[in-house]
Amino acid sequence: MKTLTLNNGVTLPAMGFGVFQSSPEETVDAVKAALDTGYRLIDTAAAYGNEAEVGEAMRQSGVSRDDIVLQTKMWISDYGFDSGLHAFDRSARKLGFDTVDVYLLHQPMPSDFNATIQAYKAAERLLADGRVRAIGVSNFSEDHLNRLMAETDVVPAINQVEVHPFFTNAALRKTHDRLGILTQAWSPIGGVQRYWGDDKKPEDDPLTHPVITALAEKYAKTPAQIMLHWQLQLGHSVIPKSVTPKRIAENFDVEGFELTDDEIAQIEALDTGTRGGPDPEAIDRETYTFKVED
Ligand SMILES: NC(=O)c1ccc[n+]([C@@H]2O[C@H](COP(=O)([O-])OP(=O)(O)OC[C@H]3O[C@@H](n4cnc5c(N)ncnc54)[C@H](OP(=O)(O)O)[C@@H]3O)[C@@H](O)[C@H]2O)c1
Repeated sequence: MKTLTLNNGVTLPAMGFGVFQSSPEETVDAVKAALDTGYRLIDTAAAYGNEAEVGEAMRQSGVSRDDIVLQTKMWISDYGFDSGLHAFDRSARKLGFDTVDVYLLHQPMPSDFNATIQAYKAAERLLADGRVRAIGVSNFSEDHLNRLMAETDVVPAINQVEVHPFFTNAALRKTHDRLGILTQAWSPIGGVQRYWGDDKKPEDDPLTHPVITALAEKYAKTPAQIMLHWQLQLGHSVIPKSVTPKRIAENFDVEGFELTDDEIAQIEALDTGTRGGPDPEAIDRETYTFKVED
């Protein structure tokens, strides 16, 4: 599996495994199946409520801790410097490990960007102390990145953002390339198009779009494999989620073919310009009242 090098020299597999909406009951089996399949990058978050099960699965798997890149994220209820350090200690305790490989701020919080900056400074401290090997952000726009970088020292290694054929996020990806930030795609097979919001229609799902299904037929792959391969070919990291063993294996088996430039352009042309997930500009503690508990 392809390996990517972050802007501080740390390496990680391009293909990862996500656990958003994997219930605690499902998570141990899903993560063990992923590790058994060969995934070595696991993406969780304090807000997913399954850090303990991710850690448990890692210990049960028999795969060495050193061979797994473990990512988790700080939720907005913990933004601030001291509260950010506390949030990391809580995540580490739940995971059952002293260190985490990649620590991300889950969202920008434009309504209190100073708290966002203080949270990132806590992540910088954790990096300096060797508790984490790389730090980054998630759902940040170009403007959020510029504001953060003006007030802090460490350029984020990763911005984990929504990217799939119906929301290709092309301008932000260019910004990442310019700044040396890795694009890590959430909902890489368009999950958010199926589960977020009301009134979802079949045509909202990129898995069934004719451009994707035609490429799947041409390369004898599945639509999910085409979407994942497209992003790996672009140099992104992807973190598909599944609790279904057959799909966990399917999503890992995405090599052995190359899309042509024209086919990549066909996929990029499916962009609707409309994100499936929440608007990062509107993330605040009044709307998102969820708090991570100790
Ligand atoms: N930073 C953020 O704000 C943010 C937001 C969203 C997600 N994420 C991260 O990104 C990860 C992936 O994103 P996501 O969960 O939103 O979406 P996704 O990985 O694009 O899609 C997951 C959904 O697709 C289904 N699925 C998986 N493999 C499939 C296949 N081969 N064929 C058909 N359906 C398939 C899964 O169902 P089953 O599980 O039932 O198989 C699940 O419902 C998350 O788990 C999380 O780690 C981060």
